[in-house]
This record gives sequence, structure tokens and C-alpha cells, in this order.
Amino acid sequence: MDHATLPGRWAWPSADEARVPYWVYTDPDLYAEEQRRIFAGPTWNYVALAAEVPVPGSFKRTVIGEQPVIVVRGADGAIRVLENRCAHRGVKLCQQDFGQAEDFVCPYHQWRYDLAGALTSVPYRRGLKGQGGMPADFRLQDHGLAQLSVTERGGAVFASFAAAPPAFEDYLGPRMLGYFDRLFSGRPLEVLGYSRQRIPGNWKLMLENIKDPYHAGTLHVFFVTFGLFRADQPSRIEMDETGMHAVLVSQKGEQVSNEITSSLSQFQGDLKLADPRILDPVKEFDGPETVVMQTVWPNVILQQQTNSLSTRQICPRGPDAFDFVWTHFTYADDTPEMKRRRLRQANLFGPAGLVSVDDGEVIEMAHQGLTGFPGRAAVVEMGGRDTADTTHQLTEAAIRKMYRHYRQVMGL
Ligand SMILES: [Fe+2]
Repeated sequence: MDHATLPGRWAWPSADEARVPYWVYTDPDLYAEEQRRIFAGPTWNYVALAAEVPVPGSFKRTVIGEQPVIVVRGADGAIRVLENRCAHRGVKLCQQDFGQAEDFVCPYHQWRYDLAGALTSVPYRRGLKGQGGMPADFRLQDHGLAQLSVTERGGAVFASFAAAPPAFEDYLGPRMLGYFDRLFSGRPLEVLGYSRQRIPGNWKLMLENIKDPYHAGTLHVFFVTFGLFRADQPSRIEMDETGMHAVLVSQKGEQVSNEITSSLSQFQGDLKLADPRILDPVKEFDGPETVVMQTVWPNVILQQQTNSLSTRQICPRGPDAFDFVWTHFTYADDTPEMKRRRLRQANLFGPAGLVSVDDGEVIEMAHQGLTGFPGRAAVVEMGGRDTADTTHQLTEAAIRKMYRHYRQVMGL
């Protein structure tokens, strides 16, 4: 069905964001426009932890939106983010996820770039025996790898295709920066491992999921049963002024039968963990909060769930899928016990995690359901129609506020 020809295409169905039209998740032209305006626009996109490129020559391959990039530490120790695209004919230079290099050489015609992206040699540049070669006015310095703007804070690295993006501190705003610094405090980080999955749903559904505390108490049997995140626990949601970023904050409870839990079909009072060490939480941050889930627009979720820490990077693959890359990390100066604890708790997350498996599956179902009905819209009215911060979980305000920003950026 080609709904592109239907009247009202890209016309928002309501004055506010209490309705979100399903075509925002499926329309290929809108998706192409998102790549341009959002991922290649004046946003800061998460690309790496500095610990992933520890020494000169260390590199990591990743993407921003669908655009391949290389994160590399130069001979001078600086981290740069380069387009993973030979300046000659567009070949993706780097095929390895991680590695150590002295330079990058294009496999096609052997154009060679140094770690800062400068073109250092072109085979047969002067031709052979007076024949061929590049024109006399060809200058190596005009054909380096395109470089992005880069910022690093507390060991997390972000990049922007914008030549003059806002300062990262201004991009997050003071409140979101406070939560960011809580996790990325400057203590050196160490990667514990990765999980990767491809979720067959639109990339925005993942951000919505983390801006949606309502579902934590309805979808996640594990959370509800073991009291990690439940509607009867102290919780709040805070947003920045723009609606781009948000945090869900909550405080752990217990597996106890009470008025609320006994009314929840997901609550399993008699369910026992075969190995209770999977929870075994230890207080490590200031304040009583045990859950701080931060969405940093447009491509990352920063997770602190009891002692499990991770970045969750969103890599869109067309309107109908995204790769979700989890980097589980620890502080380098943690005790071995703490590192093991974080690894055990990571079993709640990732593609097959006791909690996160639910999210991946339900996002797929959401995408399947809405794809057939591009003329319909989601109802996003939990907690009212406003976009104010709340001190409870029964709200979809952060989704509304995200779409308020989205509409501005996309001109909808
Ligand atoms: Fe969830």
C-alpha cells in the first residue's frame, strides 16, 4: 500500500503529542530525512568509551545513524572520529570492529591515510613512465578522511557531523549533565563485554521504551516480582528543557506481597531465584536511587540498574530495524568482587536478559502491529497530555516531550 499518495501525509493528527502517527515509524522518506536532520544534524551521538581505544593506533568501527565512522586514537593521544569512507571512491576502509593500526589503507586502490585521517600516499600518483597519474594540481591535503566534531566527558565519547555543534554541556543541560556525571564521574572505565542484537522495529521505539516508566510495572515480570522497578516504589521522571533527553529514576523494593503487588498478575510471590547473587545489590552512588536510566538523544541509553552499568547504542538500519549494541562496563579501580557482581547483574540485560528480552520482543510486536496501519496513531495520554516532570511512574510525558522536539526538528 502506498500511503504516500494519501491526503494528509506527514500531517500531525493532533495539536499536541498525545497522538503519534504510526507513519513516523515506517515511512522511508521520513526516515531518510531523519538521517539528514537528526543523525547528521547538530546532535551529539555516542560512539565509544575512551577505554575502547586506549592507546595510539587503537580504533573502533561504529555508525552514527547509517553513516559508518572510525573512532581512533591518534599518535598525539587525541581521539578522532573519521568517516569510514575512502575520499577516492567511497570504499568503507575499515572492516574490523576493533583493532590496532598504524594507518588505514583502502583495499581498492591502496590510498593510505594516517591516524588523523590525512591522506599520505596515492599509488601511481605521478603515473608510470610518463603516462597516467593524477593531475599536477592534485594535493594530498585536499583529500583526507572527513573528520567529525568530537567531545569526551568522563570517559564517554560523542561525535557530531555538525562543524560547530553546541557545547556538550549545553546540549545536555544542567540537570541531565548531573545524571550523566553521576555515571561518568571521571573514574577510569573498563569494558566488561558486549551484547548485540538486531531488533526488527523502528529506532524511536527503543527511546520511547526507556522514556516509558508505565511499562516497567506491566511488561516486566522480573522487575515486578523482585521489586527492582515497580509502580509502588519511589520514582520520578525528569526531562531537559528541549525534550531530547530524560531520566527515569527509581528505588529498589522487595519481593513482598502487599495491596499493590497482590493485584498484579505479573507479581510471582512464590518465585525463587536459583542463584540470588544475580541481584545482590551494593550501594555505590549518592542518594537512595538504584535505577537511573538516561536517554541521550538521539542514539544512546545510559544504564545504571543496581550495579549493572552499560551504554546501549542505537544504530538504525532502515525504518524497520535497528542494531542495539550494549557495552557493559565497570570502573577500572573496582574490586574483583564488584566486577563479578556487575557481570552477574548484566544477565538481566542484553538480548536474552531476564528483563530486556521483554523489551526487544515487545518492540518487534509493536512494529508489526502498527506497520499495517500508517493512517492510525498511538494514544500517548498516560499521566495527562502535558510534558511536565513527575514523581511517579504512571506517565508517558517524556514520550510526548520527545515528539515535541521531533516535530520541531522534522518540520512536522
Ligand atoms: Fe522495559
